[in-house]
Amino acid sequence: MAGRLEGKIALITGAGNGIGAGIARRFAEEGARVGVLDVLEERVNETVEALIALGAEALGLVCDVREHVQVEWAVKTLSETFAPINVVVNNAAVMPSGMLHETEPDEWEHVFAVNVRGAYLVNRAVIPQMIMQGNGSIIHIASVSGMLGLPGLAAYSTTKGALIALTRAMSTDYAPNGIRVNSVSPGTIDSPMLHEFLGAQADPDSLRAEFDAMHPIGRIGSIDEVANVVLFLASDESSFVTGANYTVDGGLSVKGDQPQD
Ligand SMILES: NC(=O)c1ccc[n+]([C@@H]2O[C@H](COP(=O)([O-])OP(=O)(O)OC[C@H]3O[C@@H](n4cnc5c(N)ncnc54)[C@H](O)[C@@H]3O)[C@@H](O)[C@H]2O)c1
Repeated sequence: MAGRLEGKIALITGAGNGIGAGIARRFAEEGARVGVLDVLEERVNETVEALIALGAEALGLVCDVREHVQVEWAVKTLSETFAPINVVVNNAAVMPSGMLHETEPDEWEHVFAVNVRGAYLVNRAVIPQMIMQGNGSIIHIASVSGMLGLPGLAAYSTTKGALIALTRAMSTDYAPNGIRVNSVSPGTIDSPMLHEFLGAQADPDSLRAEFDAMHPIGRIGSIDEVANVVLFLASDESSFVTGANYTVDGGLSVKGDQPQD
């Protein structure tokens, strides 16, 4: 049976680790040829080796998404090596914590440069190829923090809200070209980013239990649970879906107020 992404060329940013590496694996399992883009060379190589071990075709692209020239190079290299790009997943991100008054101007600019400018540069480089082909699927990995007032994540949450707005703007602009643009907003996901965040806290175990309890389903999500939704949006199964923001959050974003003790 043909894979759900057979014949597609997919570029995934931040694919060296965590959710991005999980998406790369699911895409490869479904027949896509995958461009593994990340700023960390060692991580790029690890992901590419894992995909090749699955029997997939994959190309490593060591690139900083903040850098215009590097992004242009990565998009050109992937499309010349395989074929024009059909699917882009803008997943690369950094997540500094802190309230607004605790966030230094350089840190504010850094998180915007990776999370928002990075997606802008990648999309800008790929869209001419998608227009030429008359099809494409772009997925922004946002976050429920871009929809809710989660505490202590001011800069990060603002970038994720920006990606949800960008999804809507682009979906309208490019629908006539056959390009669909959607976002996926995970709740808390069991991932290296989460482990790093928890590791920096005073009591990681009780915070982890709080995260589990915060999601109505009673636990945090897995990388595969995010990757499966991204796979659907990348595939032609979602051919009438554009401008959507899919939450993958165990019900967190629709939870009403909790009864008081
Ligand atoms: N883990 C969670 O609980 C969670 C929840 C909601 C949303 N998300 C989102 O999911 C996505 C993946 O998160 P993750 O948990 O796998 O994080 P992660 O830190 O494990 O992975 C992010 C990847 O992005 C790469 N990256 C960072 N800066 C880069 C740059 N300038 N250029 C290229 N690559 C760069 C990193 O090297 C890393 O491999 C992010 O967009 C994140 O905001 C994660």
